[in-house]
Amino acid sequence: MVSATYVSPHVALYDLHPPLDDFRSEVLHGLTQPQKFFSPKFLYDKRGAELFDAICTLEEYYLTRTEMAILRAHAPEIANLIGSGALIEFGSGSSQKIRILLDAMPQLPTYIALDISKQHLQESCLDLAATYPGLNTIAICADYTQPIDLPSLPHLQTKHKVGFFPGSTIGNLEPGEAVKFLKNAATLLQPHGGLLIGVDLKKSKDILEPAYNDAKGISADFALNILVRINRELQGDFDLNQFRYEAFYNPIGRIEMYIVSLADQSVHIGDTRIAFKKDETLRTEYSYKYSVEEFQDLADRLVSILSTSGQIPISCLVSIT
Ligand SMILES: C[S@@+](CC[C@H](N)C(=O)[O-])C[C@H]1O[C@@H](n2cnc3c(N)ncnc32)[C@H](O)[C@@H]1O
Repeated sequence: MVSATYVSPHVALYDLHPPLDDFRSEVLHGLTQPQKFFSPKFLYDKRGAELFDAICTLEEYYLTRTEMAILRAHAPEIANLIGSGALIEFGSGSSQKIRILLDAMPQLPTYIALDISKQHLQESCLDLAATYPGLNTIAICADYTQPIDLPSLPHLQTKHKVGFFPGSTIGNLEPGEAVKFLKNAATLLQPHGGLLIGVDLKKSKDILEPAYNDAKGISADFALNILVRINRELQGDFDLNQFRYEAFYNPIGRIEMYIVSLADQSVHIGDTRIAFKKDETLRTEYSYKYSVEEFQDLADRLVSILSTSGQIPISCLVSIT
């Protein structure tokens, strides 16, 4: 584990951000597949994180307000289950939802915010530390799809650790990837850990589709911003006027989000030329929606993997939006 930088007396930052070369090679890999795609983790540069926050305030985006209402309604029970250990949020973003839980457990000693978006992570943790000065706030900039080691701090070695994974972010992972994520999380949270996950239920496409393709076009700006990021960080020459965004519900149980080429065209990333046909799609995200039974099956797959590797299944509480 790298050593911490103190961004304030109460906020320690551990920077495990993947190097720029990984971004380049993953982007080029995705662009050279028959179905072009980017990993959704690349959507969250500083501007992407701001646009995601704007999406969370939209009328169409029912997920944030619904999940916050569930957390408010059950905060005392959840606080009781968490007890006095450390809370670790995966994909912490603006660290807003955690405030509902922190208000219900003022005795909690440690909060670890883990996110790939470094500047946003730092700023959110500084804001949080200003509101909760007694809280030991640790920011870890890392990719949660990879195995992660926690810093060897005494209070993290001994105490009960609970993971928090809200926002239906687990829906961005394909079911096999979700099981792999849950296994990594369970390893990190052993031996007495727990995990609180926010999962979105299947529902009518009349509710789902506007949530991912809003009238103001912020979802579109959020997806297309990845092209701006590639132009800036990887010397790309995407012309944003030559692409549009689309999102639709696939009845197999997921929202699919794409950038669509408006013309036959070539784009360069550094020296590499990538050809697009008119109407060719580039996938930016899936958002899987679960039934309660489907999510239980996923948890069962995790339990059997953990048992075969001799690990103790952690307790898991699921909030459904
Ligand atoms: C859908 S947002 C959810 C934010 C917040 N937890 C909420 O519920 O509103 C996903 C968050 O996960 C982060 N993220 C996405 N992929 C990640 C990855 N592979 N590793 C770490 N963080 C990631 C993003 O930067 C973003 O802050």
